[in-house]
Amino acid sequence: MKIIVAGTGYVGLVQAAVCSEYGHQVYAYDNNVEKVKSYASGDANEIEKHVNEPGLSNLIKDMLGKYLFFSSDIETIIEGTDVIFLCLPTPPNLDGSTNLTFYDAAASELAALLAKRKDKRRVVLVNKSTVPIGTARHLENIMKEHGVENVGVASNPEFLAEGTAVSQARKPDRIVVGCDTEADFKILRRVYSQFVDHVRIKYIETTPETSEAIKYVANTMLLTYISFWNGVGARLGEKINNIRIADLRRGVTADDRISTWGSYVSNGAGGSCFGKDIQSLIYQLRRVDVNTKMLESSYEVNEYQKVYLIDRAITESNFSFSGKTIAVLGLAFKKQTNDMRDSSSIKVIETLLGKGVKRIKAYDPLAITEARKEFSPSKNILFEKIEYFHNAQDAIEETDAVFISADWEEFRGLSGTIENTVKPPYLVIDGRRMIPDFQELVDAGFSYIAVGSPAMLPEEKKATASKKSSSSEEKGVTA
Ligand code: UDX
Repeated sequence: MKIIVAGTGYVGLVQAAVCSEYGHQVYAYDNNVEKVKSYASGDANEIEKHVNEPGLSNLIKDMLGKYLFFSSDIETIIEGTDVIFLCLPTPPNLDGSTNLTFYDAAASELAALLAKRKDKRRVVLVNKSTVPIGTARHLENIMKEHGVENVGVASNPEFLAEGTAVSQARKPDRIVVGCDTEADFKILRRVYSQFVDHVRIKYIETTPETSEAIKYVANTMLLTYISFWNGVGARLGEKINNIRIADLRRGVTADDRISTWGSYVSNGAGGSCFGKDIQSLIYQLRRVDVNTKMLESSYEVNEYQKVYLIDRAITESNFSFSGKTIAVLGLAFKKQTNDMRDSSSIKVIETLLGKGVKRIKAYDPLAITEARKEFSPSKNILFEKIEYFHNAQDAIEETDAVFISADWEEFRGLSGTIENTVKPPYLVIDGRRMIPDFQELVDAGFSYIAVGSPAMLPEEKKATASKKSSSSEEKGVTA
C-alpha cells in the first residue's frame, strides 16, 4: 500500500517509521524542509534534534529508502496513495478549545491536490493526532467542498506514551479505527493486518465520533486517576499521622480492578496530552451542556500539585525563598524524555522566581536545550536568573535548597552530595519521592518535604515549628 503520513512531529514520525516496518511504502511528508533533510539523512544526531525517542532513529535508518521515504513536496508524492494519516499540530487556544488552523490549512491543501489526481482509487484520510470529536466529519466537509471523489475519512487515535512509543506502536494494547463505510474499514485492515485477528491486541472498529471520543476519555481518565492519588492519597499521607503512602498504594492497587499505573504520587502530571486534552474535553462538553465539574477538579488538582510543595516549604519548615539559590533537578515532564511541554518544572521555576529567589541552578540529563527555549529571557526577564548545569552535583553545589521535579532514577543516589554541599538552612523538596535515605538528611539537620508524607524536620526546627503552630492556634490562625 502507498501511505502518506502528513506531519512529522512526534506522532507522525513514529507512525511513519512503524508503518514502514509492515512493508508498506510510506512517505513521510512535512512542509518544514530542514526537518525533512534531517530525517532523510538517516543520521541519529540529526533525527534526534527533532524527535528523541528510544529506538526511533535506528528504525528510520533501517527502513530509509526501502519502505520509508521523506518529502517536503506533497504534490510529487500524492498520486496513487491509499491512505493519508494526518498527524498535524493541534495546539490549545486560551479558552481550552483546540486550534485547528494548521489542520484546516493542511486539509484544504490536500483536498485541492486530491481533487486533481489522475488515479481515482479510493483514498482514506485518517486523523491520527488528537482532534476534537466531530473533526472527521469536518474533514469530510472540506473534501466535499473541494469536490474530491472516492474519498473516505477516518479516526485512528494514537495512545503512545513518550519514552516507549516505538515498542508500544509495535505491540499496542489496542487499535481503534472509526470509519463510515466498509470500504474504508477494509483499507485500514490492510494497513494494520497483523493486528486484526490478534489474540491479545484489541482491534476495535467503530464510528469516527466514538473513536475520537475514546482518545479523550482515555486521557482524561488517566489524568483523573493521577489526580485522585495526588489529591486524596498524597494528602492522606501528608496530613494524617502514621499513614505510609507506599503501603497505601500497594494495599489499594492489590485489587485487580485498580491500576498501579497512575498511583505514583507526584508534583503533577505534564506532557503534551493530558492538560491539553482535558481542557479540550471540558470545552466540548460545555458546548453540549454537560456538567464538567469532575473534569475541572482533576485539572485543578493537577495544576495545584505542580506548585503546592513550595507553599508547604514556607508554612511547614518556615523557609523563605527570597534571595536564595535553589537547585531544580529534572526539567522534563518525566524521566527519559527531553520534552518540556506542560512540565511541572515550568510552574515550579516561575513560582520560585515570583518568590524572589536570587538564582536557579537547573539540571536535567536530556532537556536542557528544550528548557533554554522554554525559559527564554525574551519571554520573561526573570528567566535570566536560571543557570544550566550538565550534572546534578554542580547544580546542587552551594545552593540553599534542592527541588526535585522529575523522576530521573539518578536522583535516588544524591543524598550524600546534598548533605555535603547544600548550605544552611538545608531544605530538600521532593516532588517525586526520589530520596530513599531522607532520614540521614534529616539527622544531618535538613528539612525534607516530599509529596505524600508529612514534613520531616530536624529536632531544632521541629521545636520552632511547634512553637509557631501553637502561637498560630492561640491567634486562631490555621495553616
Ligand atoms: C500520556 C498517555 O499515557 C498516553 O496514552 C497518551 O497517548 C499521551 O499521554 P505521556 O504524556 O507520554 O503519555 O506520559 P505518561 O507516561 O502517561 O505520564 C504523564 C505524566 O504523568 C508524567 O508527568 C508522569 O510523570 C505523570 N505520572 C504518571 C504521575 O505523576 N504518576 C503516575 O503514576 C504516572
